[in-house]
Amino acid sequence: MQLPRPMRGGLRKAACFVICALTLYVVLQAIFSTAQDKSSRMISTQDKYVATRDNKVYEYNRQMPLIFIGGVPRSGTTLMRAMLDAHPDVRCGQETRVIPRLLQLRFHWLKSEKESMRLEQAGITQEVLNSAIAAFTMEIIAKHGEPAPRLCNKDPLLIKMGSYVIDLFPNAKFIFMVRDGRATAHSIITRKVTITGFDLSSYRQCLKKWNSAVEAMNNQCREMGKTKCLRVPYEQLVLHPKEWMEKVLKFLDIPWNDSVLHHEDFINNGISLSKVERSSDQVIKPVNLEALTKWVGNIPEDVIRDMAEIAPMLSVLGYDPYANPPNYGKPDDQVAQKTKDIQKNKTIWDRKAKEMFSLGWDNGADRETDKDPSDNPNLT
Ligand SMILES: *[C@@H]1O[C@H](CO)[C@@H](O)[C@H](O)[C@H]1NC(C)=O
Ligand SMILES: *[C@@H]1O[C@H](CO)[C@@H](O)[C@H](O)[C@H]1NC(C)=O
Repeated sequence: MQLPRPMRGGLRKAACFVICALTLYVVLQAIFSTAQDKSSRMISTQDKYVATRDNKVYEYNRQMPLIFIGGVPRSGTTLMRAMLDAHPDVRCGQETRVIPRLLQLRFHWLKSEKESMRLEQAGITQEVLNSAIAAFTMEIIAKHGEPAPRLCNKDPLLIKMGSYVIDLFPNAKFIFMVRDGRATAHSIITRKVTITGFDLSSYRQCLKKWNSAVEAMNNQCREMGKTKCLRVPYEQLVLHPKEWMEKVLKFLDIPWNDSVLHHEDFINNGISLSKVERSSDQVIKPVNLEALTKWVGNIPEDVIRDMAEIAPMLSVLGYDPYANPPNYGKPDDQVAQKTKDIQKNKTIWDRKAKEMFSLGWDNGADRETDKDPSDNPNLT
């Protein structure tokens, strides 16, 4: 039996519709599933793993509670990281140098309107850039040392970009080391620590630079807020290590362990030191008072006289600019005793330091590209 013409046309239309719909469905399904594939592939790269020698596996990702130690170089950042490294749950390790440099590059790109526009037009949005920078940072932190439940980074100048670091790693926290700027300047000058912008031949200039750097860092610390950034005065840490390490570990949500009070026992066994970082030879000793007042008597008279104007941050941070030296406080008995022991055995300690760091770092001055980059014009 033949159907009337209009019905036949309807059937053909219906069949065509079904086929079209099916085709559309298949195509959409294909597109959707590859999209899903892609996004699941992207999600799966968010969590990465590192394994210890005994095959314990640690996951790392942007949500983890990373620890960052910052401050003007020569302010006790190496001591802090050595004390934290002594804790079985924490690994900091040596300065990476590449992380602050990468973040600085980003600041330079964004500062240029032209370059920002080019990146935006190329599809490199803030989001794309941030996830790439976070991934780079995470890889370096996770893989330049032993795996640990709590990873930590000590690139002292990174704290100048602290708020941005918190944007990348929302659960990270900062330990901000501060020290009497006169001691820091003396140490930078006598140990020939080359930092971009610091003129090692002038106490006045170094103290001015210290002032602007520490001011920028202090502002970042304030902006991050009390739950994200803890300021630790170096002098108080060495005078009262137990009290201050208790504060630090509590702030970081890390259980107490006595090992943080004798980090010297963990050198090369939990604490890796760089042969070319200038503070390595100092942290092989127990916490002691040697570095508190070495600067006294070494700063030119005219600089001493103008101290309050050269370095107003001294008073802001609680250091009397007119006292030479100020009274930092009375040390815990154990610290006083250890300091005496170190002085008694000075030759032994000197020899130990020489043996460990035979590479030496006084062979020739750093060129511009070898220096610590501290000249972020956006922030100082
Ligand atoms: C403290 O750390 C040591 C290793 O550094 C470990 O053997 C010990 O069990 C830890 N103590 C506590 C109370 O966690
Ligand atoms: C240093 O001196 C103390 C006593 O003052 C002694 O017990 C210790 O063994 C000496 N050696 C070292 C390397 O500390």
